[in-house]
Amino acid sequence: METDGRESLSQIVTAAVLGPGFRRATFAGVARGDAPSPWVRVVVRPVELRGERHLQFSYFDAKKDTTRNYLPAEAAEPLGEVIAVGFSGVHVTTDAEEIDLRTTKKGKVLVGRRAIAGEASAPEPHNRVKDVPLPEGRADRLLEVMGVATADGRVRPTMRAKFTQINEFLKQLRHALDAANLRSLGRPVEILDCGCGSSYLTLAAHHYLNNVLALEARVLGVDVNEEVIRKSIERSERVAANGLAFACGRIGGLEATPDIVLALHACDTATDDAISQAVRSDAKVLLSVPCCHHALNRELRPEGPAEVLRPLMRHGILRERTADLVTDAFRALALRVMGYRTDVVEFVSTEHTARNLMIRAVRGAPVGDAAFVSEYRELKHFWGVTPYIEAALGERFRELVGA
Ligand SMILES: C[S@@+](CC[C@H](N)C(=O)[O-])C[C@H]1O[C@@H](n2cnc3c(N)ncnc32)[C@H](O)[C@@H]1O
Repeated sequence: METDGRESLSQIVTAAVLGPGFRRATFAGVARGDAPSPWVRVVVRPVELRGERHLQFSYFDAKKDTTRNYLPAEAAEPLGEVIAVGFSGVHVTTDAEEIDLRTTKKGKVLVGRRAIAGEASAPEPHNRVKDVPLPEGRADRLLEVMGVATADGRVRPTMRAKFTQINEFLKQLRHALDAANLRSLGRPVEILDCGCGSSYLTLAAHHYLNNVLALEARVLGVDVNEEVIRKSIERSERVAANGLAFACGRIGGLEATPDIVLALHACDTATDDAISQAVRSDAKVLLSVPCCHHALNRELRPEGPAEVLRPLMRHGILRERTADLVTDAFRALALRVMGYRTDVVEFVSTEHTARNLMIRAVRGAPVGDAAFVSEYRELKHFWGVTPYIEAALGERFRELVGA
């Protein structure tokens, strides 16, 4: 539906935000108002404060975010100020419908409305962090655009495993923000998603940080595959997300300085390249879920000290699993040598993916710790191999481990 100008936009948005059943409004995109905008994005949502329903306005500018809470009866004026900015993309969700309003360069307002089924929502307790980062069962534009859920919020059976993986990954991301003190940088958190593929994680991380945790974050997805990058750009435009970008290229080929590096199932040695990218750019956090492990599998031999493991190496599947574990042990150890507190955990159960180990690393330990250097050298000697992570981390790492 096409309507004329800001007046009708103002009426639609005001009725939805101040009316019953309001859930969330996001104002973003190009500011087409008469005066320059002090904000790049504004999010409005109901919250409960001291037992009373308020509307919380989160204003994001290039460096920080500011939050103000108003009783509904006081909210018309601040809402009017936000509408006057003339953001080109406005998305409002109520219990009854989702409303998408796009303002064209010529000032035409394109309105999309979608009825949604679902239960009425109570205001969220102030600052409550949901246990499930992306809940299901209610309409969610992002999940719909990603093809993960239907318009009324039902997760598609074929996307159930991906949906669960993303949610569990986001929980890890939330923990990492605290472990690395990234919630109060005084500037947006920079995130790089390596081997982003169809960008499920990239989009979800951007949405979760900016819109759910109200923590301003810029997210860049990188992948060698031109087609997936083209589709990801298309999707990001459909959800009108600020601070979300994609680049086609190899991991490590970008001049990026992320605070957090993510990699979900980056193929084979692409995981090592993601680790190397994190270390080189001094990222505070790396969360990497490795995928297939071919490189070391080709090299492992039951020779020298490893002769004793011949029975293990005789059977294809045992050999493959050994190679997986040894590869990840080298990676985790290399990260420790490079000054990251590192552990390896099961981030999701195997029913959702067989590749369910996550390497979690937070910067802040001593670089070149002698005990870890010694463990690394002994592991290399035992297997008689040079893992790819050594090449990926380059000269500095080789110097530290005396290779
Ligand atoms: C298995 S997919 C995972 C995609 C996505 N992270 C997810 O979990 O849905 C692996 C992706 O890594 C990309 N990739 C592999 N090696 C790469 C490299 N060296 N640099 C950039 N991307 C790479 C592939 O093109 C592919 O899209």
